[in-house]
Amino acid sequence: MKLAPRARKAVLTAHIVSSGAWIGIDVLVAVLVGVGLGGSDAARGLALRALAEFVVAPMLVSGLVCLASGLLLGLATRWGLVRYWWVAVKLVMNVVLCVLIVVALQPGMAEVGAAGVAIEAGEVPVADLSNLVFPPAVSLTVLAAATVLSVHKPWGRVRPRSPRPSGRASEARPTVVV
Ligand code: HEM
Repeated sequence: MKLAPRARKAVLTAHIVSSGAWIGIDVLVAVLVGVGLGGSDAARGLALRALAEFVVAPMLVSGLVCLASGLLLGLATRWGLVRYWWVAVKLVMNVVLCVLIVVALQPGMAEVGAAGVAIEAGEVPVADLSNLVFPPAVSLTVLAAATVLSVHKPWGRVRPRSPRPSGRASEARPTVVV
């Protein structure tokens, strides 16, 4: 499968926009977590409820659009999916982050929302919220690394090409001088 140049540019644009949106949502999460842990009680409650209500779905959608457009770019261009290290590593990063959103972030959001409601009611939340710093820290670090890989495209091919035979076999043999 090959993409025509215009189609490739359209998919690449979707890929860059979705990865940028993903990073932007992570920055928003970092801000909400910061306010949720260290703001005034009113701001903490609001930030934690906003985190629980509005963040996971757009984050997962941007992650999946980034993954789908990346898969298409890999499959339909010379880069391949596991032909070059920089693409293969990004594939692993993207899949791991999307799985973490579903299995680690989403299940805790009800508790985070309940903590926000409790703080607004003047109560002490039951949940330990300190772990909330990890999702934006991990995700922003991995996405920044993926962006660096995308720009620099380091490490070359996963399986280096075998050298082409140069000339006939007899020519390649060393000359024996008697
Ligand atoms: C982990 C999140 C990802 C981020 C932040 C990201 C970011 C980017 C960026 C900024 C570019 C543009 C680079 C340039 O034009 O110089 C790019 C290109 C590319 N990405 Fe990703 N990407 C991600 C995931 C993926 C995945 C999962 C794949 C494939 C499995 C992939 C495959 C590609 C390919 C093949 C290109 C080059 C397209 C071309 O020039 O034809 N990316 N990526």
